[in-house]
Amino acid sequence: MPSYVITGASRGLGLEFVRQLSSDPSNTVVGLVRNKTATQQAIAQELPGRSNVHILQADITDYDALKNAVAATAQITGGALDYLIANAAYVSEYDAYDPIGVLGNNPKELEEDLLKSFKVNVVSNVHLFNLYMPLILKGNAKKVISLSTGMADLDSTNKFEIQVAPGYAISKAAMNVAIGKFHAQYKKEGVLFMSISPGVSDTGHYNNGTNVSNVLIDNTLINYLG
Ligand SMILES: NC(=O)c1ccc[n+]([C@@H]2O[C@H](COP(=O)([O-])OP(=O)(O)OC[C@H]3O[C@@H](n4cnc5c(N)ncnc54)[C@H](OP(=O)(O)O)[C@@H]3O)[C@@H](O)[C@H]2O)c1
Repeated sequence: MPSYVITGASRGLGLEFVRQLSSDPSNTVVGLVRNKTATQQAIAQELPGRSNVHILQADITDYDALKNAVAATAQITGGALDYLIANAAYVSEYDAYDPIGVLGNNPKELEEDLLKSFKVNVVSNVHLFNLYMPLILKGNAKKVISLSTGMADLDSTNKFEIQVAPGYAISKAAMNVAIGKFHAQYKKEGVLFMSISPGVSDTGHYNNGTNVSNVLIDNTLINYLG
């Protein structure tokens, strides 16, 4: 009976992990979310009858909430955990369309957004991993997975001059190093820590972008495109 914990299970890729993993009734799937009631309602509607899905409340920036979630997980799984999937993230809209030098014109806002990215995407996951380690070490699979991104890749950033989303990318790159540090410590105990990139998946992040059909096509734009 493999067991899974997935953070950010309320929507997007996290909810999809829950949907696919819980389709096998022999899997026990625990989702950590900020809004338990709303997620339970969504799962009751979209995945009726999945008695192997358990939803726990935890904002991952809240250390005590994470500790409670670990204790509740141990009750559900019998004290062990096979797979921990760190999927929850702060995907900043503030920095989504601007280079770091432009954002630097508003240093206070830039600093706040950088710190929020680091707090959610790095510090909280470090606490999450440390708190779940006793359960992972008792599990059979011993796999800890972080959802990373190609935006954190230095070579493609340089080669394709990807200027946007600097804070998000910096935090995800830092988390890749955190994964390396955890792996360096725990590989001798049979635990695999791994970052994976899901590629570009439409989970609604660019719904606020300008719809191309609303762009006034004038001669300037046509000349530019030409
Ligand atoms: N979509 C892509 O194209 C893409 C590409 C590369 C990497 N990724 C990575 O894949 C993962 C999932 O992406 P996504 O597009 O599904 O993201 P998403 O739609 O923005 O969902 C983010 C999830 O994280 C949760 N979350 C955010 N802050 C939290 C906090 N402080 N505590 C607990 N939960 C929190 C959200 O919960 P609420 O519902 O409560 O807000 C939501 O469930 C992320 O790590 C992202 O960086 C995605």
